[in-house]
Amino acid sequence: MQVNLRIRRFNPEKDQKAWWGEYTLSDALPTDTVLDLLHRVKWEMDGTLALRRSCAHGVCGSDAVRINGANALACKTLVQRLSGGNGSATIQVEPILGLRVIKDLIVDMEPFMEHYRSVLPYFINDSPPPADGRERLQSAEDRARFDDTTKCILCACCTTSCPSFWANEKYVGPAAIVQAHRFIYDSRDEGAAERLAVVGDTFGVWRCRTNFNCTSACPRDIEVTKAIAEVKKVLATGEI
Ligand code: SF4
Ligand code: SF4
Ligand code: FES
Repeated sequence: MQVNLRIRRFNPEKDQKAWWGEYTLSDALPTDTVLDLLHRVKWEMDGTLALRRSCAHGVCGSDAVRINGANALACKTLVQRLSGGNGSATIQVEPILGLRVIKDLIVDMEPFMEHYRSVLPYFINDSPPPADGRERLQSAEDRARFDDTTKCILCACCTTSCPSFWANEKYVGPAAIVQAHRFIYDSRDEGAAERLAVVGDTFGVWRCRTNFNCTSACPRDIEVTKAIAEVKKVLATGEI
């Protein structure tokens, strides 16, 4: 099938502003992914195209881009899902929004990672280990409370589709709140108060307007907005 690919290009060393590169692939397969097509452009047509990717299987989270106006992982998006049904497809690929473009599809993830680090995304427990020196046990029910938020791969699809983040990049953003949720709801963790101080601050959860862009964008199907609501509830009631 024919795919007309439009890719947002920008090379800060020579471009004054971003422009659209147009590439036609006449022998694409419906089962190709958008990442396959980007590889073909880079390897067969224009080696200067810059993109970020690693696993190619939806695990590393490094190839989040905006495809036909919606955030997604290029490696998890099949061409057949974007086809107009007439044996061809027009696919537009841009960098995710709200982060500085370094080159072409590569954005500066550092502000995103700074928000991630701000919620202390690691296990905190200074209590002595159990008497037998082994695991800190947890019931299946307690483990289930934060199961959904363990699935995050830090792709940034959620935060960079969030109007509140676009409006103010100081907003900690849905991905960081998902990470905070993962530890706040872990019965073995003792760092909830520190994390709640961060996500309850001026640029924390109350910036969320509950419009579900983040949930729609998440390639791991995490109920992001629900997790944010659960963190808001802890802040409002003091109960986990
Ligand atoms: S639900 Fe909240 S965090 Fe998610 S996109 Fe909307 S405003 Fe942003
Ligand atoms: S919550 Fe989903 S969309 Fe957001 S960073 Fe994690 S995996 Fe990506
Ligand atoms: S390349 Fe790793 S998630 Fe797509």
